[in-house]
Amino acid sequence: MTKIKDRIVFITGANRGIGKALVKAALDQGAKKVYAAARDTAKIDDLGDKRVVKIKLDINGKAQREAAVKQAADTQVLINNAGIATSGSGVTTPMEDIERDMKTNYFGTLAAMRAFLPVLQKNKPAAIANVCSIASFVNFPPFGGYSASKAALFSITQGARIELAGQGIAVHSICPGPIDTDMARGIDMEKTSAEDTAQAIIKALEAGEPDIFPDKGGREMFELWSKNYRDLEASVADMMKQDQAA
Ligand SMILES: NC(=O)c1ccc[n+]([C@@H]2O[C@H](COP(=O)([O-])OP(=O)(O)OC[C@H]3O[C@@H](n4cnc5c(N)ncnc54)[C@H](OP(=O)(O)O)[C@@H]3O)[C@@H](O)[C@H]2O)c1
Repeated sequence: MTKIKDRIVFITGANRGIGKALVKAALDQGAKKVYAAARDTAKIDDLGDKRVVKIKLDINGKAQREAAVKQAADTQVLINNAGIATSGSGVTTPMEDIERDMKTNYFGTLAAMRAFLPVLQKNKPAAIANVCSIASFVNFPPFGGYSASKAALFSITQGARIELAGQGIAVHSICPGPIDTDMARGIDMEKTSAEDTAQAIIKALEAGEPDIFPDKGGREMFELWSKNYRDLEASVADMMKQDQAA
């Protein structure tokens, strides 16, 4: 169980999309303090709530990571939400775009986890929740490099969970399907709102779910994968055929 009520929560990428909605959902759940971190603090909405503390953080910057950890040394729950989706096809997109997604979604998030680890060890019971994706389980070729970066993130999240079990630090993956944010603007699929997604995430953390599937679309895809992982791959291949035919 990862309690949010009366706890001190740190959320990356908190200025828009799912991160911004998570700030509100954590406050609604009764969090004691919410560190809302973003690359540009002027863009963070503190919702007029004194429990919100704005923090400047580009997860890819070592000095900023270290400063954030110092400023937020009482963090108990770290939600690594920040992410980008630059790359397209894994086989034709320029390598720099594939590397850019890997740099933020995998290396940046991993570096944030590692930077906060000493603080979380001090403040236990603690938790790390990494926003992965349903794309951690199946590669969507229009987001080939992005999917690979989220598969890598899921893998290291799973490893951290195994390693930190028994140390008082719970580790969760959060695996959304299509969510209605800037990131998914061009995706023609039924999407869940960021607000509903954030509320479901907080509820699932409180319920202690190790892997969190906060929306209907992602849940349905995961069920297909659970039955037979090739079924989800076939469903993505069908989706692509239909897109090409349209
Ligand atoms: N939307 C979906 O369908 C979907 C599905 C599955 C998983 N996800 C994941 O959910 C998370 C949130 O995405 P979203 O949908 O809310 O997208 P979004 O609206 O594009 O928001 C992305 C957030 O990440 C921040 N960010 C990007 N690079 C960063 C960096 N280097 N350091 C710090 N912050 C950084 C952005 O800050 P700036 O404003 O400064 O750019 C922004 O706050 C991501 O990890 C994404 O991969 C999204």
